[in-house]
Amino acid sequence: MSTEAELREKLVRMGALLYNRQLAHGSAGNLSVRLDDGSILVTPTNSSLGFLEADRISKLTPGGEFISGDKPSKEYFFHLAVYDERPAARAVVHLHSTYSVAVSCLCHEQTDDVLPPLTAYHVMRVGKLPLVRYFRPGDRALADEVREVSKQHRSMLLANHGPIVSGVSLEEAVYAYEELEETAKLYFIIGDRKSSPLRADEITELNRAFPS
Ligand code: 13P
Repeated sequence: MSTEAELREKLVRMGALLYNRQLAHGSAGNLSVRLDDGSILVTPTNSSLGFLEADRISKLTPGGEFISGDKPSKEYFFHLAVYDERPAARAVVHLHSTYSVAVSCLCHEQTDDVLPPLTAYHVMRVGKLPLVRYFRPGDRALADEVREVSKQHRSMLLANHGPIVSGVSLEEAVYAYEELEETAKLYFIIGDRKSSPLRADEITELNRAFPS
């Protein structure tokens, strides 16, 4: 269990790590964690994840009322929706990383899982990746869609935008996000070559051995 001060520092460190790994650019992306009392720390709107300041991070009640810090991310609604629907979730990561966003811009015939299960770690960390139809950033209707999808999924991809990944800790959510971006990269590297994703029985075995 981490204190609020430790979690603020962790947001700063993880933001810098994601920025330095070029998974976050400009002022795109937002991170949040849920504290033991249910309140939420979320990155401020228009802030670079590479240069967060612990005492300026926004703090909100679980219902979204402002407590302290800078103005929160315009996407705080969907962060709250994920926490509402996933009681075990303690962190949410949303970024605009290149390969995942590229997948989000493709035409998809089916939208219930838009990346193939290429590797065991993708299945273990990300799971299924449904596509959420396009909304403008900050649209509250987006949060409603995210709420619905969160009932079943810890990861999802917003069309023409980027992924949302939740986890039981900030580390877990960040590592799952990185796994997702790597799978998206593999997907484009493989391109039109014939690939052999994991079979349904292999996925069942992984889910049994490593329940999420
Ligand atoms: P914020 O700067 O308001 O967090 O928005 C950035 C973003 O990634 C929108 O999806």
